Amino acid sequence: MKELIVELPGKDYPIYIEKGLFGRLGKEISKIYKGKKVAVVTDENIAAEYGRDVEADLLSSGFLVKLVIIKPGEKSKSLEVYAEVCDKLLEFGITKGDLIVAFGGGVTGDLAGFVASTLLRGITYVQVPTSLLAQVDSSVGGKVAIDHPRGKNLIGSFYHPRAVFIDPEILKTLDSRFLNDGMAEVIKYACIRSPELFEKLSEMEVEKDPLNGLEDIIYTCCKIKSGIVQRDEKDAGERMVLNFGHTLGHAIEKYYGFEKYSHGEAVAIGMYAITLKTEEEGITKAGTAASIKRLLTKYSLPFKIEGMDKPGLLEAIALDKKSDGDDLNIVVLSEIGDGYLKKIKKEEILRYL
Ligand code: GLY
Repeated sequence: MKELIVELPGKDYPIYIEKGLFGRLGKEISKIYKGKKVAVVTDENIAAEYGRDVEADLLSSGFLVKLVIIKPGEKSKSLEVYAEVCDKLLEFGITKGDLIVAFGGGVTGDLAGFVASTLLRGITYVQVPTSLLAQVDSSVGGKVAIDHPRGKNLIGSFYHPRAVFIDPEILKTLDSRFLNDGMAEVIKYACIRSPELFEKLSEMEVEKDPLNGLEDIIYTCCKIKSGIVQRDEKDAGERMVLNFGHTLGHAIEKYYGFEKYSHGEAVAIGMYAITLKTEEEGITKAGTAASIKRLLTKYSLPFKIEGMDKPGLLEAIALDKKSDGDDLNIVVLSEIGDGYLKKIKKEEILRYL
């Protein structure tokens, strides 16, 4: 089993990565939690596939278990669903000393984590991410949130899990579109911090076995992310480089109602668009955008939208959390492996679309 510790003053937590880990979740959880009640928040798809097994496993480890099942998809990160989940947990008689398990992809992790951070002013929780995107990004670092009709993740907090359990084996059952969705975040890590990972991804033979080498790749991404989070837990500086491609990406997701483009697809378009422009401006090494485009194409990810509605996207960017008064922090590359923050005036973003 690979293990990493996210070191934060007074709230260190481990990330465990191993194929087959979900099969003994109860045993692993009982090592870190001595209470009785465990509430598992999950979505309908994950519940249909794994709900019974996980419940049985937790029961056999002596826990009192409640499954709270939400609808899959970004629409569940709403105030209404947040209230429904809180309601079900209170009905279960959850107390501050009990445990919430966020078992699912990014939506489940963000929502269940936000419930954990606010219900009874904070209940301990663990992240058990089931999508590649959640395994390499959203389950690590304590960002938890729900959406507001005006924008994504506008209501949230920083609340770290007690542990993160990652089982790459679960990705086997994932539709290739969702695997590639996570690959966009993997490519992001390579772009901002690791030319070695970029090269590895470029050389990997994914056609035969898309899961080949994923355990190491997940470990590398979690290591890059935990290092950044350790240096800038509250997103005041370096952590913002994790938003490479996300300014435009979030706007695309929102503009298309979170339906046409997945998060990873939107981020892929954002990474290429901005790099194309910064290369033109001479602040990014020539050829970088073409390398990104090649890698995105290899993982069947889009890199541009024909006939982009720039004013519409600009409106979507206006309420982005990355805004800072009249300024916007965008992430640019000097070359592959070196992402940094650039402050621009909000209206300048049009140049980068
Ligand atoms: N997903 C970006 C961050 O955790 O900061």
